[in-house]
Amino acid sequence: MIPKKFLQRFWAIAGAVSVRTKILGIVLALVILLGAGVTIQSRYALTTTMAAQLEEQSVSVSRDLAARSTDPILLNDLLSLHDLLDETRANNPNVRYAFIVDPQGQVIAQTFSGGFPPGLLSMNAVQPNEHHHTVLIKTNEGLVWDTAVPILDGKVGTARVGLSDASMQAALSTLTAQLLLTIVLVSATGILIAIILTWVLTRPILALVNATRAVAKGDFSRRVPRWANDEIGDLAEAFNKMTEELAHTDELRREREALRRQLLEKVIATQEDERRRIARELHDSTSQNLTSLLVGLRIMETNCAQCASKSKASDLRQVASRTLDEVHDLSMRLRPRSLDDLGLAAALERLAQEWQARYKIPVDVTIQLNARLPGDVETAIYRIVQEALTNVARHAHARSASIFVERRDDIVRTIVEDDGVGFDTSANYGERHLGLLGMRERAELLGGKLTIESTPELGTSIFIEIPLAKQQNPLVSETRI
Ligand SMILES: Nc1ncnc2c1ncn2[C@@H]1O[C@H](COP(=O)(O)OP(=O)(O)O)[C@@H](O)[C@H]1O
Ligand SMILES: [Mg+2]
Repeated sequence: MIPKKFLQRFWAIAGAVSVRTKILGIVLALVILLGAGVTIQSRYALTTTMAAQLEEQSVSVSRDLAARSTDPILLNDLLSLHDLLDETRANNPNVRYAFIVDPQGQVIAQTFSGGFPPGLLSMNAVQPNEHHHTVLIKTNEGLVWDTAVPILDGKVGTARVGLSDASMQAALSTLTAQLLLTIVLVSATGILIAIILTWVLTRPILALVNATRAVAKGDFSRRVPRWANDEIGDLAEAFNKMTEELAHTDELRREREALRRQLLEKVIATQEDERRRIARELHDSTSQNLTSLLVGLRIMETNCAQCASKSKASDLRQVASRTLDEVHDLSMRLRPRSLDDLGLAAALERLAQEWQARYKIPVDVTIQLNARLPGDVETAIYRIVQEALTNVARHAHARSASIFVERRDDIVRTIVEDDGVGFDTSANYGERHLGLLGMRERAELLGGKLTIESTPELGTSIFIEIPLAKQQNPLVSETRI
């Protein structure tokens, strides 16, 4: 059993490489495995066959020598005997040595030029009842098949011949070299085929990967070609269908978003218009009427010094005066005239003053604007600050607050800060708390953004950035919402 850990480690490495490398690796491993198997088997088969052949040759050469050396030995013709030994060697390149031993065990003739090796004589002997006897001798230069054949049944001596395996080794080397060359050639072809194959196979996959990345970035126009009629082709088709669906859904979403924005813009514009109308009505008509009433009551109060209803008139005048104050207050909160007439800076100063007087929390106001801003931007900033201050009063338990507005380049930055209890900005406050949501919507409708930073026990800062469109002249602000 292969340990699981080893398999995991193997897959961690093999799995991480590209498909191209995987296929190349598999092809190479198979070719090398096949090549090694064939080489080992061929070498084994060749060795066995050649060993058997060499042994046979050894016997036949020895018997031949034994037969032909009988006469020279009997005639004691050492010269012919030497010639015979030389001939034996010359006739068969495998013959490493040959020698003749007399019945007393003395070497009569031999082929060794550098002296007869000690010990060789005793390494092989033939029994009188044997035709021949072969032993395998291991030497420094390889194996030697040594065969001893009795001459005239051993009565005149023994012929010994040694055949070396040099030719076998040479044949083995040639075979191995040829097989290695074949392996290299087959590997090269295999690699070439694998490269072509992976190129063909991975091209559509790479195209899919690239298209998927594009889709992930929001480009739904990408389509991949169907390369072949196989599974990858099916995948490409499914992918194209999916992107089409996504594009369609995205378009619907965009349309809805645009519609929602339009509606919201319209709602906000209508709301501001209506507020402006009611505020004007309250100021121009209701306040005027109340003022006339006040004046009338005062005249009544002074004229009838002895009247019984004098104190009644005085009471009524106080009620009318309080109502007038309340109407002023209401009109202010609905839509301060200063926002239309004097601009954002004046309106914010006024808002801060009244807020401070009402909630008894000091507010610091810093406004760095040297010109009027477009009407919609002024209204949006005013309403955001208004809501932010309301939140500070309702939730923060702050000791102080500050408002900061500045225009730098073409961006208006607004910061409303308090040193109150803070809150969790990541929490979802649900449908009933729409203040923060409305603030963000107003900023985003004008292409701006709203960021909230809040630290428990340290306070809350609300940052609003609204870009000013270049073509708009900040001094002319006719389109008001
Ligand atoms: N300045 C602030 N300090 C502490 N908490 C705040 C502040 N502003 C907002 N919050 C918290 O965020 C919540 C959501 O605010 P908002 O959307 O304006 O809804 P609402 O004011 O109606 O509760 C509030 O209920 C309050 O808990
Ligand atoms: Mg609120």
